[in-house]
Amino acid sequence: MLKRISTLVLAGLTAAALTSCGSQGSGSASGSGDGSITMGFSQVGAESGWRTANTKSVQEAAKESGITLKFSDAQQKQENQIKAIRSYIQQKVDVIAFSPVVESGWDTVLKEARDAKIPVILTDRAVDSKDTTLYKTFLGSDFVEEGRKAGKWLVESFNNSTDPVNIVELQGTTGSAPANDRKAGFAEVIGADPKFKVIASQSGDFTRAKGKEVMEAFLKSNPDIDVLYAHNDDMGLGAIEAIEGAGKVPGKDIKIITVDAVKDGMQALADGKINYIVECSPLLGPQLMDLAKKVVKGETVPARVVTEETTFTQEQAKTALPNRKY
Ligand code: AHR
Repeated sequence: MLKRISTLVLAGLTAAALTSCGSQGSGSASGSGDGSITMGFSQVGAESGWRTANTKSVQEAAKESGITLKFSDAQQKQENQIKAIRSYIQQKVDVIAFSPVVESGWDTVLKEARDAKIPVILTDRAVDSKDTTLYKTFLGSDFVEEGRKAGKWLVESFNNSTDPVNIVELQGTTGSAPANDRKAGFAEVIGADPKFKVIASQSGDFTRAKGKEVMEAFLKSNPDIDVLYAHNDDMGLGAIEAIEGAGKVPGKDIKIITVDAVKDGMQALADGKINYIVECSPLLGPQLMDLAKKVVKGETVPARVVTEETTFTQEQAKTALPNRKY
């Protein structure tokens, strides 16, 4: 398996915080009452290849673990996720898991879940709530680190040049953790050298169609684009269509860095149309089900579970593609 998934307790996490995680896990308001577990899961949507793979992973893992899954697709809307969570509270599920479409605005509904003694697990994306007792654990990637990895590749690739490097950025969904963090990590690394200039940065909402549309606009207003940094493969793939439509060669005239490493992205990398991909694993289902079983039993779980990920060059993509699971 290409990825090693490991559990890391965040540096600086106090023993007290860990203890509180365990003690609050007990006493879930079980709706089943027969020892079986029902999970209410609110998914962001179906905006990307990554999301489709993530949904499959969660659904398959629930089946394999004997957990009954109530699944809802929020179609990228926070209000739909809040409605779904309220409905899971009403149905007295044993545990709620969700991938928050944006970081802010969750405290009220999470307090309602806590009052109902239903443990909540954040998966894939974080919330910016200061009250960490509102959820038991957060399972997912380190998005800031993903942005740093993208920035490091760029810095190394343009190591021998002193000319300005004009970068355009396709951001993920506005206000989402991966958009905020991937932008910040990338900016932190390239910010050390003033030759790197982000000349345009706009949201493509993590979709292929929007990635294409925004890239077309970037190309019209900026004749000298050297690099595209797209926060996911799908937006990068949409942008490739725009670049080709403008008579330029993706991967050569414009270097492209993306995040995710889904099959379509990896194929474009192997074909030379993308130059570098930072991996973000969607295969969170099995770990999510393990954590759910523990929190329902009232066992202590780490406050943060980080997914370990790798990066791919064009040569590495050619080797990895035949065994790629998603
Ligand atoms: O939250 C993970 C991100 O959401 C993925 O990188 C992107 O493809 C998805 O839409």
